[in-house]
Amino acid sequence: MAHSAYVFDAYGTLFDVHAAVRKHAAKLGPDAQTFSFVWRQKQLEYSWVRALMQRYEDFWVLTEQALDTTFNLFPSADRGLRADLLNAYWALDCYPEVPEVLTSLKQAGARLAILSNGTPSMLESAAKAAGITELLDEIFSVHDLRTYKTDPRVYELVTNHFRVYPEAISFQSSNRWDIAGATAYGFRTVWMNRTTQPDEYPDLAPSAVLSDLTGLPFLV
Ligand code: LAC
Repeated sequence: MAHSAYVFDAYGTLFDVHAAVRKHAAKLGPDAQTFSFVWRQKQLEYSWVRALMQRYEDFWVLTEQALDTTFNLFPSADRGLRADLLNAYWALDCYPEVPEVLTSLKQAGARLAILSNGTPSMLESAAKAAGITELLDEIFSVHDLRTYKTDPRVYELVTNHFRVYPEAISFQSSNRWDIAGATAYGFRTVWMNRTTQPDEYPDLAPSAVLSDLTGLPFLV
């Protein structure tokens, strides 16, 4: 194991953001997958725009606003699902390999943490629902900084806390833009390209690319 601390993005990397919609897919009909994708993209867009404007609203508010926009874009979707979709966000499924990989890294002596745009309560709830709370040493949230990834101060939360140089941290994210931000900050970065997306940000390449977390403990 080459790194003493492994830090994970939350949504899309440990927790499946599309699980919320999948639970109600039958009621959303054939557009369910696109609906989920638009909801996620709007949530992220709002985080970037608010960070640039320096007008922070927390990630839960952005998640709600993004869902309302998505309902406006899909007028045939049943708005009666709003509360159920939002509730599902507090207990998203984690990807199947996550508990085993975290356990194996932990047993090898690594410190493990989440670094996320989510609020502390969203992240604590999702970790608890996924049964991984005991494996995590820290949950870092942007909340106290009142900004979002890819502001370098977000990645700096980790190095300040662990008192290490950025290259001592192995950072994992399925979001290519987050990998760009973390690479710019100086972390060793592992892109979880779960859905075989084309590469982006050519000047900010990941240190490694995996299709899921399974191979992570074997990366040097
Ligand atoms: C997060 C989002 C960006 O957890 O996935 O920070």
